[in-house]
Amino acid sequence: MPDRKERPVFIAANDRSRDLKQDLVGKLTEARERTRWLLSTVSGEDLGRQHDPIMSPLIWDYGHIGNYEELWLLNRAFGRGLSDRNLFDIYDASLTPRSERPSLAMLDRASADRHLDAVREAVLEALQEADLDGEDPLLKSGFIYYMVIQHEYQHNETMLQTLQLMQGEGYRPQAPVELPCGNPPSAEEEEEMVFVPGGPFVMGTDERAWALDNERGAHEVEVLGFYLDTTPVTNRAYLAFVEDGGYERRELWDPEGWAWIREEGISTPKHWYQKEPHDWWTQRFGFDEPVSMDAPVVHVSWYEADAYARWAGKRLPTEAEWEKAASWDPERETKRLYPWGDEPPTPGGAKRANLDQLAFSVAEVGAYPAGASAYGVLGMIGDVWEWTASEFFSYPGFESFPYPEYSEVFFGPDHKVLRGGSWATRPGAIRNTFRNWDFPVRRQLFAGFRCAQDG
Ligand code: AVJ
Ligand code: FE
Repeated sequence: MPDRKERPVFIAANDRSRDLKQDLVGKLTEARERTRWLLSTVSGEDLGRQHDPIMSPLIWDYGHIGNYEELWLLNRAFGRGLSDRNLFDIYDASLTPRSERPSLAMLDRASADRHLDAVREAVLEALQEADLDGEDPLLKSGFIYYMVIQHEYQHNETMLQTLQLMQGEGYRPQAPVELPCGNPPSAEEEEEMVFVPGGPFVMGTDERAWALDNERGAHEVEVLGFYLDTTPVTNRAYLAFVEDGGYERRELWDPEGWAWIREEGISTPKHWYQKEPHDWWTQRFGFDEPVSMDAPVVHVSWYEADAYARWAGKRLPTEAEWEKAASWDPERETKRLYPWGDEPPTPGGAKRANLDQLAFSVAEVGAYPAGASAYGVLGMIGDVWEWTASEFFSYPGFESFPYPEYSEVFFGPDHKVLRGGSWATRPGAIRNTFRNWDFPVRRQLFAGFRCAQDG
């Protein structure tokens, strides 16, 4: 990855404000380096093409990242005029559905490079003068900057979903990070579960610097005692469901999921195929490889997760159950930011979680014993997003901030909640309270699941 550019030196009213500004500049700079690095080996043609109708062309994501930054960090935060009105319509996610974005007059790579650089220069200049200690809720504690930084992180994962769907030669990243070995439960052993006792815990957060609107506010939730799988469901376990005729047995499926797999002819996770009977392979970016039996299953829809759970005599955990198992410290009766505590995950070759993209792969389950939650649940953050049983609804007292198209317009029964982030999630974009959502048919996500059972 390229060397850091020189960063501005801040002369600020107080140390706290100066440190915060330095942190923001470092994160803005680093986020952009990653975005550009991820796209650096992709041809201009592949950037402009639509690889799947559910995804944007990569060049749209790239331009949209810069446009979002201009909108929030120049226009909304400081009242600056828009540099080009047309660009705002082209890159407004709510104006044009993904399937129609290829027809937009998007900036090509070179023009987008220049545009993003110009926006960034103005953003850093405006930040010099910004009052992050005042009462403006956009600027206070750096909220709007953390939102924009996380937005870039989120689009990095979206871009990786697109790159995984890219056909032909495919994306062939160098994987600069190697993964530790797993420690899966032995094949004969029933997959282990831990008991999470009933009682109240605190769900969500009141944090106003880095949390997004749908994570707020903190509220007490009573959960009945339940069992939770200690690790995500592995490919080995999932294959047993496949080979037991799981995809042929109507009674295991939600009726809508059944109709959908019949219509689409779905009988395995996305990207799986057999070279010989029972010899299962998959495609990861440009590479073919055997399905790794000790790794979590990935690229399954909510419907498949739900059917597997029924087959196993279990169910998916609710969102509240997931967050309690990940975040609650029952001894101290406090909430942890991450399963292992409050220390943020370290980027790159982390010891506690497989995050941050550079391994370009899930790890085998049990590879991160230091990442266990207080209840001893493993792999809750990183590797695969985990489908939950819950639909995406607002918490009590929800207030849309700073715009309804981030969360509010998606609330309702159409979206299921996912938790925990994946190998493709940047560390700054995930925590115990973070909520992701998608339609129950979606399989482009780096998503798997774990099961729960009543206590
Ligand atoms: C939170 C991942 C569902 O990609 O639609 C990106 C994140 N919001 N740009 C999405 C988001 C605006 C969002 N998810
Ligand atoms: Fe976006």
